[in-house]
Amino acid sequence: MIKFDHRGIESKLVGEENGIDTEKEFENYKDRISEIITSLHNKKAGAGEWLQWMNLKYMEDTVWYIKEYASMVENRFDNILVLGIGGSALGGLAMTEALLKPYWNYLSKEERNNYPRIFFLDNIDPDCVKSLLNTLDLKKTLVNVITKSGSTHETMAQYMIVKDILEQELGDDYRKNIVATTDKQTGVLRQLADQEGYKTFVIPDDVGGRFSVFTAVGLLPLALVGIDIDEVVQGIKDMDERLKNPDIYNNIAAQNALIHYLLNTQKGKTITVIMPYSTRLQYIPDWFIHLWSESLGKSSDNNGNTINTGQTPLKAIGVTDQYSQMQLFNEGPNNKLINFIKVENFDNELKVPNIFEYTGIGYLGGKSLNELLDAEYESTKVTLTDCSRPTVSIILPKINGYYIAQLLYMFEMQTAITGALYNVDTFSQNGVEQAKNYTYALMGRAGYEESASEIKEKLTMV
Ligand code: PA5
Repeated sequence: MIKFDHRGIESKLVGEENGIDTEKEFENYKDRISEIITSLHNKKAGAGEWLQWMNLKYMEDTVWYIKEYASMVENRFDNILVLGIGGSALGGLAMTEALLKPYWNYLSKEERNNYPRIFFLDNIDPDCVKSLLNTLDLKKTLVNVITKSGSTHETMAQYMIVKDILEQELGDDYRKNIVATTDKQTGVLRQLADQEGYKTFVIPDDVGGRFSVFTAVGLLPLALVGIDIDEVVQGIKDMDERLKNPDIYNNIAAQNALIHYLLNTQKGKTITVIMPYSTRLQYIPDWFIHLWSESLGKSSDNNGNTINTGQTPLKAIGVTDQYSQMQLFNEGPNNKLINFIKVENFDNELKVPNIFEYTGIGYLGGKSLNELLDAEYESTKVTLTDCSRPTVSIILPKINGYYIAQLLYMFEMQTAITGALYNVDTFSQNGVEQAKNYTYALMGRAGYEESASEIKEKLTMV
C-alpha cells in the first residue's frame, strides 16, 4: 500500500505559526472525522449525492465491457485520439502518462507491443488542433469523444471538426472510428451517438467529471493502449477498504484532509503544492488541481455564509522545479504546504559512468540517477524544514496501476473529507457557469441574447 509521512508538519519542527501538533489535533478532530467518513459512506448509495465514485461494485460490468471492446479493436488502429476537457481528459492523461513506457508516442510499434499511440486534445488552440489532425492518419485513428454533459462546447466543436474529416475520408464507415463516453440518457452527444450508431460507454449517474477517472472516462483510454485495468481496479478496491476506516489514526486520506484544513484555516497556508519526484507523474498535479479547485473553491458554505474558501493548488516537479520554484518556496511567503510524492523503486537503475574521476564531478561517477534523485528529494525536504516550511510525503513503492489508483483514490477521498470540514458543497461548480454562459452568448446560441448585450457592454470596460 502507499504510505503517508506527515512528520514535516509538526510544530516542534517548523514552529507554532507554521505547523501543528498532530497528536493533539488528531485527538481533537477524531470524532468529527469519524462522523464525516461515516456520513459519506451512509450517503453514498443515495441518488443526487454525487458519491457514486465511492461505489466500486458497479465497475465489474463496465470493466468487462471495456476489456471486450479493447480486445475487439486491438490491432485496428495506430492512434487513439481522446477529445474531452476537465474531468473528461485529465484522469486519462495523468494515468496513461504514468503507466505507459515514457515517450510512448515516439516508440516504434514493436516497442509499443503493437498498441496504438495516444493523444489527448483538451484545448481548442486552432494551431495545435490543426497540426495534430494533419499529423495523424485519421483513417487509422480511434476517436474517443468524452463528455458527461454531452454538450461541452470545446469538446463538441472538436468532435464536429473530426467527424467531418472522418466522414470525408471514410464515408459511412467513419462510425467505426468513433467511440463516445457520455451519459446513458441525456445530452446532445448521447442523442447523436444513438442516431449515428457509435459504440458508447456510459458515465454513471452522480459521478462528477473530476471524480470520474475510474469510470469508462479513464479506464477505456487505458485499456485501449494495453494497460491492465484489473490492476487499477484492485488498487481502488484495496484503498477503499483502507479509507473506509473512520479512525483518523488509520486513515491517510483523513489525515491529509485535516492537515490541509488546519494549515489553511489556522496557519495561513493558502497554497498546496503537489510535487512528484518523477517525470512520469507529471500530470498527476494537473488532475489534482482540477479536483481540488472545483471541489473546494467556494464562495459560501452550506449554511449560506460567505467564506470564499479553498487553497490554491500548485504544480511542481522534482527535481526540475528545484531550479525554478524552490527559491520562492524556501524564502518567499511562508504560505505553502508542500506535498511530495516519492517513488521508492523505479523500473530502471541508471549508473553514471566513472569517467571524470579527478574532476569536480568525479563524486557522481559510479552512483546512480536513482541515488541522486533520492538525495535531492531528501535535501529539499530538510531544507524546507530548515526554512520552517511544512511538508508531507506520499510514498509509492513503485509506479504501476495498483499504486497510481491508490494515490488518485486517496486524493478523491481527501478532497471529499476536506470539503466536509469546510462545510461546502464539494460536488458543485457554479463558479464556472457564468463564463460558459457568456461564451454561449458571444457565439450566438439561441436563448442567450440578453447575456450577449450584457457582455458586449462589459467588454467595452474591461
Ligand atoms: O468536474 C466537472 O464536472 C467538470 O470540470 C467537468 O469535468 C468539465 O466541465 C467537462 O464536462 P463534460 O464531461 O460534461 O464535458
